[in-house]
Amino acid sequence: YVLGIDLGTSAVKVSCLDQLGRIIDQEIEDYPVYNPAEGFSEQNPNDWVHATLAAIKKIMSKLKDLVKIDGISFSGQMHSLVILDKNKQIIRPSILWNDGRTANEADYINKNFGKEIVEITGNKATAGFTLPKLLWLQENEPDNFAKIRYFMMPKDYVRYKMTGKINMDYSDATGTIILDIAQNRWSNKILNFFNIPKYCCPTLVNSTDFVGFPLQEVCEQTGLNKDAKIFAGGGDNAVAAIGSGILNSQNLLCSIGTSGVVLADEQNPHTPYEGTLQMEHHAVAHHFYSMGVTLAAGESLSWFKDTFFPEKSFNDLLLMAQNSNLGANKLFFTPYINGERTPYSDSYIRGSFTGISKILTKNDFCRAVIEGITYSLRDLISIYEQNNKTIEKIVCIGGGAKSKFWLKLQADVFGKKIISLKNEQGPGIGAAMIAAMGCQWFKNWESCINLFVRYNDIIVPDQHNFVLYNKYYNLYQKIYSSTAPLAR
Ligand code: XUL
Repeated sequence: YVLGIDLGTSAVKVSCLDQLGRIIDQEIEDYPVYNPAEGFSEQNPNDWVHATLAAIKKIMSKLKDLVKIDGISFSGQMHSLVILDKNKQIIRPSILWNDGRTANEADYINKNFGKEIVEITGNKATAGFTLPKLLWLQENEPDNFAKIRYFMMPKDYVRYKMTGKINMDYSDATGTIILDIAQNRWSNKILNFFNIPKYCCPTLVNSTDFVGFPLQEVCEQTGLNKDAKIFAGGGDNAVAAIGSGILNSQNLLCSIGTSGVVLADEQNPHTPYEGTLQMEHHAVAHHFYSMGVTLAAGESLSWFKDTFFPEKSFNDLLLMAQNSNLGANKLFFTPYINGERTPYSDSYIRGSFTGISKILTKNDFCRAVIEGITYSLRDLISIYEQNNKTIEKIVCIGGGAKSKFWLKLQADVFGKKIISLKNEQGPGIGAAMIAAMGCQWFKNWESCINLFVRYNDIIVPDQHNFVLYNKYYNLYQKIYSSTAPLAR
């Protein structure tokens, strides 16, 4: 058996899978996000550790002596900065990937090191990435910056607390924009230019590399067997791509979690996107992927539900949306509640409802939110289309794939064939697959993917709906430039 640990922004989900790729058990534990100021987004790293160990404990006590865990691996939220001092103690709360405080630092990097940062890392700086967060600390919390002995990503911290070893895998390291993506090493040029000591950078490993065994206290606390092998794991989007079969594939992945992501497998890091899309190492050595990110996809719907319909479920909201019409009776929503990353890289922009008339109902508002999130994902797909990327199908995962209505809406808005996964569980399955590969259950990734990844039937877009949605999408696109000045 293997455990896949999916360390997300709102919760950790731990899945136990057998050698046939069947889910035997699953546990979810939530934790809070703190917003100490407008645009700030933080978490307490120890909340992740407690939640992960609690979820593992629940699984182990249910399965008792029936299972022995062979391997464990991770998927983790990307870019979120965790800093430890020389005693390996946490210095301050983690600054998350969707925190907008570092807009000035990202601008500074692009203005003063813009050509080099794209050449070396494959990425332009945006507020979410890790390097701007380190610069923000230099400027705003110099005492904390001076104490840093190690920086790492969230899942690296949880893995450290489980094994005592500090590492970072390449897929998460690219998300720091400190890694030389083609040379596979920390970039001295970047570290020197921005005065970041090299000793802060963890040792780099591949996602399937063995890192260590669980510490004795972890075994005692959770019931884990002490010979369970712990493998590095990867950033959540790389791992979700693995769990969706996006490796050597012409399918795009479209994921609606807290963020929204569209990504594609790439053969090498030299793409035509010039930093418009992110370039990252895949969770498989020598593979890469490109991606665009909508900062608040699922989060926009959660915000809308919590603010206006706290008594209702997501399903209720989707049913209400179905009772409106295509185009939400000309009501538009833009999901920029945390600013937007792709394509605008704008931390200041805020969301909007446009076109409110007195004939509208609550149903139209629900539909507008769902359509607005989907249009923002179409913005990402359009970048691939403009660069003539071959797109066979789009594999949809996350919240947007749980509802037939939203899946069909995605097919109609994107004008592309859509498929979803049979055992859709977010990136947890990909994390379990990394553990399975680490344990050498399979000779190659192809056999692992063939057994673990199962698709539902293809959903074909309705041409008539696509034409209508095209018209509304063109109008939606105009809203950004009209609302941007309001937010400055
Ligand atoms: C990717 C990104 C988000 C987080 C979510 O660049 O910022 O998708 O990985 O955890």
